[in-house]
Amino acid sequence: MNRTAWHDALPVAALRPGRLHAVTVAGQEILVGCTAEGLFALDNLCTHAEARMSEGFLRGHRLVCPLHGGAYDVRTGQPLAAPCLLPLGTYPVRVVDGRLEVGLIG
Ligand code: FES
Repeated sequence: MNRTAWHDALPVAALRPGRLHAVTVAGQEILVGCTAEGLFALDNLCTHAEARMSEGFLRGHRLVCPLHGGAYDVRTGQPLAAPCLLPLGTYPVRVVDGRLEVGLIG
């Protein structure tokens, strides 16, 4: 049975709505998006041509790639605009003692 392993990512106090953060969790580059709807963790590399999504921007829940302007829903990782056709991987998050933790399947 697969289990979720929780990994420390960054302090919640560092997060602001509308901001993106790149963190390395268990050797994996993860994007943390902070929105009015909550905190979300996704793969940081665009599925189109591997741009770093943390260098893009958020408009509400729309996560826009810095390289070709494709977009994803930061809540689900699903593509919203071409040339992004494949979803970004998503990860559960939780807050423990003021720190954001990202869950990876162990
Ligand atoms: S690399 Fe992201 S849209 Fe092309």
